Amino acid sequence: MVWRLETKRLLLRVPAPFDVPEIVALIGDFDVAKNLSRVPHPYGDADARGWIEKMAEARINGTEYAFAVTRKDDGAFLGSVGLHKRDGAVFEFGYWLGKPFWQQGYATEAARRLIAFAFMELGLGHVIAGYFHDNPASGHVLEKLGCQPDGSDQRNCLARGHSVYCHKVVLTRDGFWKKKAA
Ligand SMILES: CC(C)(COP(=O)(O)OP(=O)(O)OC[C@H]1O[C@@H](n2cnc3c(N)ncnc32)[C@H](O)[C@@H]1OP(=O)(O)O)[C@@H](O)C(=O)NCCC(=O)NCCS
Repeated sequence: MVWRLETKRLLLRVPAPFDVPEIVALIGDFDVAKNLSRVPHPYGDADARGWIEKMAEARINGTEYAFAVTRKDDGAFLGSVGLHKRDGAVFEFGYWLGKPFWQQGYATEAARRLIAFAFMELGLGHVIAGYFHDNPASGHVLEKLGCQPDGSDQRNCLARGHSVYCHKVVLTRDGFWKKKAA
């Protein structure tokens, strides 16, 4: 399996202990954490170290594939994208970037590479995702990837401390490649 994925501007690689300070600084921002379901707030070094260790184990078990998103030209750590097995079968993907890096097309670029990895390397037929009702930017990223609406549910948000209305989407292999080619 390949653990270094490249795009025009980005290198996606396995998260490492030296990423801890950047992870804490960027995901420790409530505006980032409140849009993710499994990220506590406040967020400290121990949380980041625990996440990196858990991801290393999950990669070996084949249950979760997390990548650090870094910028090729200066090596800056921007955020993370990943896939995790949900309900034992289907893989769900997710992504986050630190606020200084928003609105530059990085999330779409990184997520496209992650999805190509899901379909080509993991051989998946479809993947799913979800975004909170008050996160239209993420909804737009998912639309750009070729995702289709697939219902809704209430999903717990650790940072907010309560459940939040969540739009669910599905992305098929065909839907992804067609959108990418368009
Ligand atoms: C959501 C997030 C990943 C987007 O990252 P990004 O790098 O800014 O995304 P991109 O630049 O690739 O694309 C964002 C798109 O949303 C659009 N957008 C931004 N704010 C928007 C809003 N309020 N309403 C609708 N669209 C919006 C942008 O214009 C852009 O679309 P365009 O390329 O057609 O102009 C980033 O804001 C983030 O990390 N947020 C916190 C964590 C999070 O929400 N993760 C996703 C959980 S589902």
